[in-house]
Amino acid sequence: APKPDPLITDVQDWNRYLGEGVDKRPYGTPSRFEKHVVRRDVSWLTASPESSVNFTPLHELDGIITPSGLCFERHHGGIADIDPASHRLMIHGLVDKPLVFTMEDIKRMPRENRVHFLECAANSGMEWRGAQLNGCQFTHGMVHNVMYTGVPLRVLLAEAGLKPNAKWLMLEGADASGMNRSLPVEKALDDVLIAFAMNGEALRPEQGYPLRAVIPGWEGNLWVKWLRRIEVGDMPWQAREETSKYTDLLADGRSRRFTFFMDAKSVVTNPSPQAPLKHKGSNVLSGLAWSGRGTIKRVDVTLDGGRNWQHARIDGPVLEKSLTRFYVDFDWNGQPLLIQSRAMDSTGYVQPTKEELRKIRGTNSIYHNNGIQTWHVKANGETENVEIG
Ligand code: MTE
Ligand code: CO
Repeated sequence: APKPDPLITDVQDWNRYLGEGVDKRPYGTPSRFEKHVVRRDVSWLTASPESSVNFTPLHELDGIITPSGLCFERHHGGIADIDPASHRLMIHGLVDKPLVFTMEDIKRMPRENRVHFLECAANSGMEWRGAQLNGCQFTHGMVHNVMYTGVPLRVLLAEAGLKPNAKWLMLEGADASGMNRSLPVEKALDDVLIAFAMNGEALRPEQGYPLRAVIPGWEGNLWVKWLRRIEVGDMPWQAREETSKYTDLLADGRSRRFTFFMDAKSVVTNPSPQAPLKHKGSNVLSGLAWSGRGTIKRVDVTLDGGRNWQHARIDGPVLEKSLTRFYVDFDWNGQPLLIQSRAMDSTGYVQPTKEELRKIRGTNSIYHNNGIQTWHVKANGETENVEIG
């Protein structure tokens, strides 16, 4: 007869003793057994932690919402520590009436809730020239998806009154980097939010507390955190972040500038190098797809390097400019796999291969790599980042 399983036959501590009471954790934190689920950096990428980036642990998450404490961080001058009572948002320049808002003013204006992804234009940038980092956390983790609460920028601009020659806005942060970007007025009047909450709670300090710009579908760099000033003008500002940075250098030496949109992209999060296959038989392949131009219409998945493709099962809300969750329920008999996913968005655009991207954009680029990712699952289940020709 098989030996009895002590996990079933013995009374466990958590069953024998009373647990901690309420109020032990007035602001809840995850189970102590989830300590490995954290943002991680790549130490050799940047010279100092104040101007650096860490990555969302995509392989540990499910559904479409990124928990606030796991949203990747990208700071140019560290995290500003702002007392909301001392925070001001100024709107000036080509307006009828320059205005200064306190946080209390902003919270008395009509607000909206929307779920959107934020992807840094440099996400997957290390992968331009070939497979490099082992883990979707590092290859694709400069993305998060959050429900924001905020006031439409359109409402704030209507208070100030735009002059007829108002064409561009300059958004500026209150952090030590004072990071700024130029934003076309059409986008500002369309779907930009000035957000004070994420996932129902106040913005986290890392994400721009107490106020940040939400620029749906456009590159993360435009989503100015710790937002303190909006200047209205008739031309772009040619700020550092839109000239020497966030500009795509092409093979012939010319540059693409103001490449605001984040095009359709997807990645299989499980299996992946940090989440190998452990069992033969039934398994769940899981992944994320998103597009800055609309919704995700379809995701195709191949397990054999592109010979056969199947439609993935999309589950959960399919929202505009939001991460979308997909699954393939499959049987694994221990054969090596070459896994890829390919997203199609509501404009009909299909996520390209890395080779197709390189043909058009060369290999100098860092930004806007939305090419198809390949994971090689070996016979023992270990998974690595590869490219196939
Ligand atoms: N805003 C300010 N004020 N300072 C910054 O360093 N980094 C930008 C943008 N907004 C930045 C900023 C970049 S490059 C990105 S990708 C996003 O914020 C990152 O947002 P997150 O830290 O919430 O992930
Ligand atoms: Co960025």
